[in-house]
Amino acid sequence: MATDETRTGTFPSGIAGAGLSEVQRQVPADEPPPLPPNAELAVIGKPVPRQDGRAKVTGAIRYTVDISLPGMLHARVLRSAQPHAEIRAVDTAAAARHPGVRAVLAVVQPGGVVRYIGAPIAAVAATSMAAAEEALRLIRVDYKPLPFVADMYQALDARAPLVYDAGSAPKGHPSGWPAPPDIPLVGNVRGPVDAKRGEVAQGFAQADIVAEGEYRTHVQTHCCAEPHGIVADWRADGLTVYMSTQYTAGVRHELAETFGLPLNRVRVVVDGMGGGFGSKSSLGNYGRIAVSLSRQANAPVRLILTRQEEQMDSGNRPATWQRLRIGARRDGSLTAISLVSYGTAGVALGAGVGNVAEALYSCPNFEGAQHDVFINAGPGCAMRAPGNTPGAFGLEQTIDDLAEKLSLDPVALRDRIDPSPVRREERRIGAARIGWQRRRAPGSDPGPVKRGLGMAQSLWAAHVQLNSACEVRVLRDGGVEVLSSVQDIGTGIGTVLAQTVAEVMGLRPEDIAVRIGDTEFPSGPPSYGSRTTASITPPARTAAWRVLQMLFSEAALRLNASASTLEARGGRIIVQGDPGRSISFGEAAAQLRTDRISAVASRADDYGGFKRTMGDAAMALQDLGGVQFAEVAVDTETGIIRIERVVAVQDCGRPMNPKQLESQVHGGVLMGLSYALFEERILDQHTGRMVNPNLEHYKLAGPRETPEIDVVILENYQGRSATDAYGIAEPANIATAPAIANAVYNAIGIRMRSLPMTPAEVLSALGKIPSRS
Ligand code: MOS
Repeated sequence: MATDETRTGTFPSGIAGAGLSEVQRQVPADEPPPLPPNAELAVIGKPVPRQDGRAKVTGAIRYTVDISLPGMLHARVLRSAQPHAEIRAVDTAAAARHPGVRAVLAVVQPGGVVRYIGAPIAAVAATSMAAAEEALRLIRVDYKPLPFVADMYQALDARAPLVYDAGSAPKGHPSGWPAPPDIPLVGNVRGPVDAKRGEVAQGFAQADIVAEGEYRTHVQTHCCAEPHGIVADWRADGLTVYMSTQYTAGVRHELAETFGLPLNRVRVVVDGMGGGFGSKSSLGNYGRIAVSLSRQANAPVRLILTRQEEQMDSGNRPATWQRLRIGARRDGSLTAISLVSYGTAGVALGAGVGNVAEALYSCPNFEGAQHDVFINAGPGCAMRAPGNTPGAFGLEQTIDDLAEKLSLDPVALRDRIDPSPVRREERRIGAARIGWQRRRAPGSDPGPVKRGLGMAQSLWAAHVQLNSACEVRVLRDGGVEVLSSVQDIGTGIGTVLAQTVAEVMGLRPEDIAVRIGDTEFPSGPPSYGSRTTASITPPARTAAWRVLQMLFSEAALRLNASASTLEARGGRIIVQGDPGRSISFGEAAAQLRTDRISAVASRADDYGGFKRTMGDAAMALQDLGGVQFAEVAVDTETGIIRIERVVAVQDCGRPMNPKQLESQVHGGVLMGLSYALFEERILDQHTGRMVNPNLEHYKLAGPRETPEIDVVILENYQGRSATDAYGIAEPANIATAPAIANAVYNAIGIRMRSLPMTPAEVLSALGKIPSRS
């Protein structure tokens, strides 16, 4: 029930511990009253343990791989062995005759083109995995090989083979954002996408000091603990899909559209989920394949990607090259920033370096030109803070260079040029925790193992999905349920929903039954863009508040009081100011006329009146971030970098559950550290083949490389929604690699401008071995 009526609410505002003030907002009349700061709350803001923790550690939780349906078939996908080829013919006759095979699908038709090794060509569904494997080997593909290019720098050459012709190349923005319509395609390059303010040439003319540098980042793969997987069950009366997905409601829409089904015949279910990081945001080619096979076979079909398929064709973080120039006056004030970038997401778009150079610091003159370069490699896709993670690797090192040229401390320079009071507080806290005053001059640590301190910052938008909805029910036995299609990607949103509802109802989180990850319930938000908590906790609180008002009406009769004088606290419904007059929550529920009451609420617009910038369903506010400090030890004889300590000071509006937030920051730091030092997709330029499509030769950081990670979560109140909560997943990943790089520079006095910072790279930077490039 939307209403245009509003009333004025007084909300806490500012950073707890640094002086809270108040802000007045107009709030829709059917939304709950302002939520006080966490210190005054019973459940929200407390380190509540994850509700499904026991199920996870005992293996009781059900992931998509655990789904087994009667008569279920197993699917396998035949993938291109060529990096670029026309498919003359696909002969599936022998596979179709295999006794175990129930369906065969040609994904590419004769005359079609494959553009990377691992691209799907055909698929089978069979009664066992072994039968499916055998059948795959019976398929004959007649390729006409085409010239290919598997290296971004070669692809820039005018004589390089073309990955696409003008008609077939994808269109869009290098950072995956809404794009101006006609971004030129020249050779393999889509771009530039320009951004401009002020006059950059004038700005550089006014500069006393200019810092500049070129930075390279490499391809990182998502490496979700749980692979991409789907069990598709096509029946005459509708389609049910069990899928490890970041957007249950979105996949339902995609399925309805792709297969011409009405929405009320499509159901998507996800229970446990082992991560996504951007790579499970949509149906995907494997999803379409499994559903098509199920329709054809008239049976449920299970398709789980192998780790090799994961590495080759489930998305990746694109590689980038960027050149940054930053001009400043002697006092540190910035006069001009110019940025040029080329990146490659293989056959896809989205290899930009984000908006950190444009938006993190105050600078009147900015000019940016970002380009996507196509190569014959598996498609990149969004990965944890896409754009800004590689972008910050360049920007935050260039800012440190500038600080050194200005003889300013890196923290002091940022205090001058960063307009954010939140990050200022984060720098202050972080510097104190890491012991920043111990920082020496670059390279001045004597001895072969040199220690260094460095820091870097992040910028991310507070994304919100406005069409997110949630239902809260009270049952006659006193039970409470919260229902939404929102999925738990692994971060524990179910626990946060239980906290949100429990706070309203005056109950404990364990009293609330959480039913999520199913499109039978009201549509929840996607879990990408760090928007889950921001999108779904306000409607959960609103729905709980509305249903509580209904319960108050019933309780009012028993208590002989007016409903407006009641409050819910400690499992009881109490007459305010007269605690002797109360009944238990259960007694109140027992009064219900029907066996349950329920309210559905959707996410309200931002109370602060911030503009929607990404269409009707979503808005993005530029105000999330975090500052990270790293302490490293560089062994100048072996080239090994050890990260000894990371301090991460992050903000996300109101922290809903500090324990889970800390856990997410640990994940962000580990992923960033692993990106900085270890991970790298290695593509053989001569064959177009990934030579490390596994987790043996694709090195992830492990326990031995895990430093002490000190997490501080700010309480930053803004009065923008019924919970005032935002996300933390992506911001926690952005600053890690540049903080480490700045610390390495501080240790050895040499800048690492290329990722990953392997021992060989360090030794070559030190001039001890020849450079590999
Ligand atoms: Mo994320 S890369 O928005 O899942």
